[in-house]
Order: sequence, then structure tokens, then C-alpha cells
Amino acid sequence: MTDTAPAPERDTEAGRLLFARPFIFVKGCVTIADLPPADRTEVAFAGRSNVGKSSLINALVGMTGLARTSNTPGRTQELNIFEAADAPLRIVDMPGYGFAQAPKDKVAQWTKLIHAYLTGRPNLRRVYVLVDGRHGPRANDLTVMNELDAAAVSYQVVLTKADKPSKAELDKVIGATQAAIAKRPAAHPELIVTSSQTRAGMEQLRAEIAALLAS
Ligand code: GTP
Ligand code: MG
Repeated sequence: MTDTAPAPERDTEAGRLLFARPFIFVKGCVTIADLPPADRTEVAFAGRSNVGKSSLINALVGMTGLARTSNTPGRTQELNIFEAADAPLRIVDMPGYGFAQAPKDKVAQWTKLIHAYLTGRPNLRRVYVLVDGRHGPRANDLTVMNELDAAAVSYQVVLTKADKPSKAELDKVIGATQAAIAKRPAAHPELIVTSSQTRAGMEQLRAEIAALLAS
């Protein structure tokens, strides 16, 4: 089974056009009540702290610095909302989970916010669950997948930082990750293997989001 089956040409072109638009930062939300109205398609990027969520959003939209990134885990602390100019698409950059060094009450607040958003947002069409391409899913990734399965929220696993491991290491992680999602009811069966550094996987991700928007 290939990890990156080519998207239909039509979707690839639609993805290219969709992400040739500028995207703007709308706001950062610290509570669910801060969210904009559920009036358009949303896709969210979730994952452990430092897995590369904000970097992936920048690579996806082709705008360095749109989402703030950092070497230090815990950079993104709010639900950061980005919208496409002239297209009914909203992208949500989420705080990371599994970051133990922050104050306990902060971690509890983020965890509550992440859970409430992921399981209760009616216009959330797809969650991209980012998993480090060097390690594969950790316990807290599986917990989030369990929650998404239970809430019947469609999600797809994206391996990040694929430029870092060797080909053999990456193949092993791909195999282990495919095994971890195989029987999950709300998981998209296919992985997307990406690198924000080399732009690997961006065409596929753009095509899939464009296809979501069209359906
Ligand atoms: P939090 O907001 O803290 O949860 O982190 P995040 O998941 O948004 O990660 P972020 O995008 O800030 O990236 C974390 C670190 O990983 C930064 O130092 C990035 O430069 C690095 N990084 C992200 N993506 C890649 C990648 O594809 N390849 C490599 N080599 N490094 C990456
Ligand atoms: Mg971030």
C-alpha cells in the first residue's frame, strides 16, 4: 500500500488554486465562545507540542510567518484562526497537547479547549492529526484519535518532519502508523507524509482540502 496515492489531477489543480490565495490571520480564541460563527468549512491541525502544526500551515499556504512557530514546545496557546481570501475555508492552528512543562492550570485549560473544539464544532470537516515522522503515534495521539472516533469526527493522520528520519526509519513509522489507524472508524485510511522543510506532501494535502471544500 502506498502512503501517498496521487490525488486526481482535478483536485491537484483545485488545491493549487485554493492555496494560491492569500490567507489572513483572523483571531486567537482562548474559549469556545470566542470562535467565529460556524458559517464555513473548517479544517484543524492538531498534534503534540512541537510536532510541526504551525510550520505545516505556513508551508500549506505558502506564507512564511503566517502562523507563529518556535523551537520551544507550547508556542501556540490559542485556537488561531486563519481564513482564505475569497473562499469559504477556515484553517485552525491548535495548541499542542502533551506539553508537561507549562503550569498545570494552563495545560488543563488547553486540554479542555482542545477537547471541546474537536468534539463539538459542527462545521469542522476534517481534523489533521499530526504525528512526528520519526516516532509514530504516542499514547496521547491515540487518546485524541479515540475521542474523535467516539465523536464521529473525520480525521486523517499526517506524518511530519519526514525530512529527518532515514528512508528505512520512515518506512517503519509509516507501517506502525497504518497499523494504529487501520480499525479506527473515523480515520481516513490513508496517511499523508509531509515535510514543511522540503514541502513533501503539500500538493496532496492541498488537493484533499480542495476536494473537501467541493463536496
Ligand atoms: P506548538 O505550537 O508548540 O504546539 O508547536 P507546533 O506543533 O506548532 O510546531 P512548530 O511548527 O512551531 O515547529 C516546531 C519546531 O519543529 C520548529 O523548530 C520547526 O522549525 C520544526 N519543524 C517543523 N516542521 C518541520 C519539518 O518538516 N522538518 C524539520 N526538519 N523541522 C520542522
Ligand atoms: Mg504551533
